[in-house]
Amino acid sequence: MKILGGPASQLLASRTAKALGTEPVLCEFNRFPDGELYLRITDETKDENVTIIQSTPTDSDFVSLLQLINACNEARELNVVIPYMGYARQDKRFKNGEPISARAIACCINADRIFTINIHAKNVLGYFPCPAKNLDAAKLLGEYIASFGMENPILVAPDSGAKELVKNVSSGQGFDYDHLHKTRLSGDTVIINTKNVDVTGRHVVLVDDMISTGGTMAESIRILRDQGAVDVYLACVHPVLVRNAALRLFNAGVKDIIATDTLEKAESILSVAPLIADALKNI
Ligand code: R5P
Repeated sequence: MKILGGPASQLLASRTAKALGTEPVLCEFNRFPDGELYLRITDETKDENVTIIQSTPTDSDFVSLLQLINACNEARELNVVIPYMGYARQDKRFKNGEPISARAIACCINADRIFTINIHAKNVLGYFPCPAKNLDAAKLLGEYIASFGMENPILVAPDSGAKELVKNVSSGQGFDYDHLHKTRLSGDTVIINTKNVDVTGRHVVLVDDMISTGGTMAESIRILRDQGAVDVYLACVHPVLVRNAALRLFNAGVKDIIATDTLEKAESILSVAPLIADALKNI
């Protein structure tokens, strides 16, 4: 199988290829003078089994993914892995007149099969025109947290949307877990209700699928520290971390941030390559 990494997932594609005992296919990425994206795959994909790995945090990354799929139109079989899918949070119409952006994006992405990783809302999988499967990085996160050797930690989700994730990260390691209540006021402001999670004298790991502006986590850190947590770590699958998110989190007193390489940031210390490699081996 040939592994082809898009511009947003070069490192992850290389790690996945290595886990599969192969080398990633080389591709040139450039722009035309007017700003339009250009790419060229410098290897043969005709009649080959090809897997494209490309997250889509930006609109340009989405266009690159469409270009890669188009360039592989003579592949024998094509898999597309979208480790982090942008627009997945607009998975339904929240107000009249809005698009279902996740559906608008998904319906353009066609292949023999698609894999996502901890996609924000599972109903998005049904918007793709081909079979789509969501992979879960929870076990990897749980094992990584366990390797810290913290005594009796408690894992906490900042809102009810992350309840299933925190449960999955905890199970297998036997960690205690709980969740807080969140009300979103705007794109970067939230209120976290002071639900009484008993964290006094304990190490806390806040777990969410993604950290974007850091608003959710910054508020949660403050509350948990006020409630007596010894220290608060953050663990997420997707480190979107826009603008000054990392600074907000460290100002709020985070001990450390653990994230996967679905997005390639300084905080991406845990690779999901083994998860992708296993899924590809089991096709
Ligand atoms: C929303 O439901 C997600 O799970 C995250 O909690 C949210 O996207 C985090 O956003 P921010 O970091 O901007 O608060």
